[in-house]
Amino acid sequence: MQSQEPHSQELFIDRFGASPDGRVISPGRVNLIGEHTDYNDGFVSPMAIERHIDLAFRARADRQAVLYTGIDPNPVVVDIDSLNRLKGWGMYPQGVIRHFAKDGLEIQGFDAVFTSDIPSGSGLSSSAALELAIARTLTAVTAGQWDATEMAVRCMRVENDWVGVASGVMDQLICATAVEGSVSRIDCADYSTYPVQLPADVVVLILHTGTKRGLVDSEYNERRSTCERAAAELGVSSLRHATLDMLDASDLDDLARRRARHVISENDRVLAWGQAVTDANWSEAGSLMAASHASLRDDFEVSGPALDAMVHVAREVDGVHGVRLTGAGFAGACVALVAAEHAQQATATIDREFRQSYDAIPQIIPSSPARGTHLADS
Ligand code: GLA
Repeated sequence: MQSQEPHSQELFIDRFGASPDGRVISPGRVNLIGEHTDYNDGFVSPMAIERHIDLAFRARADRQAVLYTGIDPNPVVVDIDSLNRLKGWGMYPQGVIRHFAKDGLEIQGFDAVFTSDIPSGSGLSSSAALELAIARTLTAVTAGQWDATEMAVRCMRVENDWVGVASGVMDQLICATAVEGSVSRIDCADYSTYPVQLPADVVVLILHTGTKRGLVDSEYNERRSTCERAAAELGVSSLRHATLDMLDASDLDDLARRRARHVISENDRVLAWGQAVTDANWSEAGSLMAASHASLRDDFEVSGPALDAMVHVAREVDGVHGVRLTGAGFAGACVALVAAEHAQQATATIDREFRQSYDAIPQIIPSSPARGTHLADS
C-alpha cells in the first residue's frame, strides 16, 4: 500500500481485461482526542479522512480472491478455504474472509484491484480501511446485508485473532460508520456514536511526521494488559468505571497507576472537548488536546521524538488552536485544529519549521470529515 492517486477502475480493466462489477471507497481516520481509551470501554472522537482505499471488484466463480495493488504487477492470491496465514498485507483480506466464514456468512471468490492514498504506518488506519473495503466487497459479491457496526466489530476481531494486535474498536468503527461532515464521539462500551460538528471557521490538519511506526505491536499489547490489570486491581470491569479518587485510594504500583491515570483523565477530556468545540471555545479545546498529548507522553509513554517535535513546532504557530499525537503513537502523525483563515500559512510554517528541527520530511494533509466505507456510484 503506497501513496498514489486512486484510479482503481482503469487498473482493474488493465489487470483483468474486463470491467469491474463495483467499486468500494474505504477511508482512513484521524482521532481528534481519546487515545488508548477504546479498549478500556471509554470515549474517542475520531473522524474519517479524505484519504482512502479505492477498490474495484468483480465476483469469481471459484474459491479464490485475487488482489492487486496499483503498484505491484503480481497479485496476492487468497485461497478462501486455506488456513495458512499469509505474510504481508495479504493477511488482512485473508483474515476478513476467515472471519466471515467463522461467523457463518457466505463467502465467494473475487478479483480486486485497489489503490490507496493513506500514508501507511502513519497511524491513519490504512489496515482498518483495507479490512472494511474487503468486508464491503465480500458483502456485495454475496448480496449479503451490510451492518456497519457489526462489520467493524468483525474486522476488529481480525486484528485481535488473526493479525495478533489487541486493538480496540475505534479504527474499524469510525471507518465503517463515519458520517460526512462531522467528527464522531463514540462510546466504546456500547458503540453508540454522537456527532460533533466542526464549524466552518476551523479545519483539521493531519501532521504526518514522515516517520513510521516500527514493530510496536508488543508495546501496544503490553499497554492494554497493564490497563486490564489496573482495572482488576481497582475492582472494576474496565477503566471506564474507575475514578481518580479510586486511584488515589488504591495501592497500585507506579506503572499501572500512571497508565490508569491517563485513561481516566482522557475519558473526561473527550467529553469536555466535545463541549468546547460545540461552544466554539478554542482555547479550551486546544488546552485539552495539549493535556492529552502530555498525558500520552508522560503517563502512557506512547509518544516519540518525532511526535514531540511536531507538537513543539505546531503549538506555537499562529492559528493553531490545539495539537497532539494521534493513533497508537510512537511515530507517525499528529493532528491539529486550526483556524481556517490561518490554515494555509500555518501549513507552510509547520512544514518549514519541522524540517529544521527534525530529520524527516513531513506531509501535512488538510481533511474535512469524510464518509465511512461505502459502495461508490460508479
Ligand atoms: C490504534 C488501535 C486503536 C486505538 C488506538 C489508540 O489505532 O487500533 O484501537 O487503541 O491505537 O487510541
